Amino acid sequence: MRVLGIETSCDETGVALFDTERGLVADALHSQVAMHAEYGGVVPELASRDHTRRLLPLIENVLHEARITRHELDAIAYTAGPGLVGALMVGASTAHSMARALDIPVLGVHHMEGHLLAPMLEENAPAFPFVALLVSGGHTQLVRVDGIGRYQLLGESVDDAAGEAFDKTAKMLGLDYPGGPLVAALAEQGDPTRWRFPRPMTDRPGMDFSFSGLKTHTLTTLRRLEADGLLDDQARADIARAFEDAVVDTLAIKCRRALDATGLTRLVVAGGVSANRRLRAGLEQEARKRSATTYYPRGRFCTDNGAMIAYAGAQRLIAGEHDQLGIMQAVPRWPMEQLNPPAGKDASAN
Ligand code: KG4
Ligand code: ZN
Repeated sequence: MRVLGIETSCDETGVALFDTERGLVADALHSQVAMHAEYGGVVPELASRDHTRRLLPLIENVLHEARITRHELDAIAYTAGPGLVGALMVGASTAHSMARALDIPVLGVHHMEGHLLAPMLEENAPAFPFVALLVSGGHTQLVRVDGIGRYQLLGESVDDAAGEAFDKTAKMLGLDYPGGPLVAALAEQGDPTRWRFPRPMTDRPGMDFSFSGLKTHTLTTLRRLEADGLLDDQARADIARAFEDAVVDTLAIKCRRALDATGLTRLVVAGGVSANRRLRAGLEQEARKRSATTYYPRGRFCTDNGAMIAYAGAQRLIAGEHDQLGIMQAVPRWPMEQLNPPAGKDASAN
């Protein structure tokens, strides 16, 4: 089955072709990062308009790269949520229009299920069951995954997502949007011994996260240095390092708890923040202590992309799942626990 995947939930237009027999055939991406950087964050209306401009040419590129025509597509998957509603609607309406014209099935996919399954596109794909740490700009979640659509939430952020905390810290440090990679780069010059920032919610049991206190701590440290006339480049780098170490440690501690609580030995890490080098090193160290293995998507599939949507959609489309004709889905908020195993499969089966 050849599935075209379309991702337009935020600030990246992603398109890919996944073939259930041949694997990933082609993928293309347009990032709006440069456009939004000027405003210090994503401007929803600009995002929607840009998706409208970019989507059809990207679909043409992917079909061209895959050397097929649109008439050879068997199905279309698109991101139905969570995300910015206007941005989601561009992908949803394009997918539904194409599917109707081509008379093929179409399915709305959960964005986080896409991230969660992205490591399945790698040669060394994890087997079920596993623990997944989802760390993106909008979500920080620990999930027990027993199969596609069989998700048990173990913990999540009660306030800011990890990526959001990185982006806000970047702003405080005068860095551009999205700040995650820039904070990480600045932290490379930082002295890890100068400060130890708090590891929120690690002194009590549980697998929930909170990053707003850490954000406030970072801001207070910055203001104090500024007031004392001590906020130079080195101090900025030291703050970036203290912040990054605190986030990495906090995530690693919660992952350790999740592995211990479930007794599982596979840890999947996905979402934009999973690109962070120090996070990978920290999690690998934790996993090794427990004889567990970590799995990540390749670099460009850590952040938003069409491949993960094509893949996740294909797993459900092949089981016969699809949207009703003409009823497109664009759901800004959509808890992942509401997902079910693919239609037609026994919910209790693996
Ligand atoms: O998954 P994603 O592309 O979009 C959402 O679904 O949110 O994640 C984007 C987030 C941003 O907050 C960005 O700053 C963060 O991932 N990010 C990073 C790194 N690369 C991206 N955070 C820390 N270190 C990185 N290397
Ligand atoms: Zn995402």
